[in-house]
Amino acid sequence: MPDSPYDLVVIGAGPGGYVAAIRAAQLGLRTALVEKDPYLGGTCLNVGCIPSKALLHSTELFHTLATQAALHGIKTGKISSDLPALMQRKLDVVSKLTGGVKQLLDKRGVTIVQGLAKLGPGGKGVEVRRADGSTQKHEAQNILIATGSTPVELPFLKFDGQLVVSSDQAIAFTEVPAKLVVIGAGAIGLELGSVWARLGSEVTVVELLPRIAPTFDEDISRTAQRIFQKQGMKFELGAKVTGLKTENGRAALTAQRDGQTLEFPADKILVAVGRKPNTAGLGAVEAGLVLDKQGRITVDAHFRSNLPHVYAIGDVIPGPMLAHKAEEEGVACAEILAGKAGHVNYNTIPGIVYTEPEIASVGLGETEAKAKGITVKTGKFNLAANGRALSAAAIEGFVKIIADPKTDRLLGAQIIAHNASEMIAAITPHLEYGGSAEDVARTVTAHPTLAEAIKEAALAVDQRAIHAI
Ligand code: NAI
Repeated sequence: MPDSPYDLVVIGAGPGGYVAAIRAAQLGLRTALVEKDPYLGGTCLNVGCIPSKALLHSTELFHTLATQAALHGIKTGKISSDLPALMQRKLDVVSKLTGGVKQLLDKRGVTIVQGLAKLGPGGKGVEVRRADGSTQKHEAQNILIATGSTPVELPFLKFDGQLVVSSDQAIAFTEVPAKLVVIGAGAIGLELGSVWARLGSEVTVVELLPRIAPTFDEDISRTAQRIFQKQGMKFELGAKVTGLKTENGRAALTAQRDGQTLEFPADKILVAVGRKPNTAGLGAVEAGLVLDKQGRITVDAHFRSNLPHVYAIGDVIPGPMLAHKAEEEGVACAEILAGKAGHVNYNTIPGIVYTEPEIASVGLGETEAKAKGITVKTGKFNLAANGRALSAAAIEGFVKIIADPKTDRLLGAQIIAHNASEMIAAITPHLEYGGSAEDVARTVTAHPTLAEAIKEAALAVDQRAIHAI
């Protein structure tokens, strides 16, 4: 006999899983949430989005004071960083949020079960193994897998937690590495590269492709590289990492480019080449779940796997590995399970890199459109011509609006700017409602704000920006 009958057992308490559990409970489903770690919130809250943003904020303050205090008429003595205090603040932020998640779940009556969940044969029920080795069986009408992802390891460069590390360790170094080599110029490489460069590391980012932030438009990559280089980061592009060399106790990463061997001395090597879906320990294959070539759980448009009553959302299924994508899927899946019409609009998922300036995009990019043979019209506006940006000494970057040349329908936007993560939120609703570039251009925008650059970029789609020369 099962220990407890539930309408829904959710596996994994990251942003996908805990949000799904809350929504399911709101809709009256008897819900349990199983988590293997002794804390809630998953990668995002504990070792991902949130701690990295805390570090990015603290180090940006430090860097701004160190480099721009005089510009703003502020006199300081020599300022220095206090790494233990900075890390403690990060931990405080994390513990406040994870505690908050527990309160939310308790309030909604979600049963939290701690232990490693394994699917029963054919996906029937869940067996949870606790830290003390004891097991408990839970039967449920439906099971939702939200087990997230883990960092990808390079086969010839295994994580050792000391020299070769993943983002899990790179958010918690106990001293500033003199030389940090980052492999991969994606979101993690650029964000954590920025953190340690601001604190004094010599940061070299080695990227396989010919440009940084390669999922964004080419002009975004070029602008970002120029700015980050000014901030002190070095980029080695088009370089294929081959291994590790150690001589006289000094380590160096080796790479190949155009037949040449490159060497990058390193005190720490951060491997940030992507993440892989986490189905280990779940007994996915034994239970008969169909996985694709990348190990992701195959689901239909309603998040249903091939096993009856087993659903999956978030990083463990195809799509961008983003917390907000997982959350939306969690809500939609819970609503579908409760007999409602849950839905996710995959055209309106913003992607952000929280560097300074930040990089943000939503919808179709110009580079992607070109690659797909889609004709678009674009409007661009430089922050240098925006009054608020000038007042804030944040004139680097631009906003670009991408629209359909025949219908003027808004297709997407790309931004590199201070606070781009917040600015993109002014564009997403226009995409959601099927708005046009004209709609964005006609939206009244307070003056002075950075968001005026959005309006101007939308006006620029038809060459009528007011403040562009
Ligand atoms: P990523 O996929 O964003 O970037 C990986 C980069 O590594 C790419 O530029 C790729 O070309 C490069 N690369 C791959 N293999 C390589 C090799 N052998 N040598 C050199 N370069 C190589 O992956 P990342 O940054 O590790 O992030 C993992 C996931 O987490 C992504 O899906 C990302 O979107 C997400 N994430 C999102 C954040 C955000 O929303 N701000 C922050 C951090 C991560």
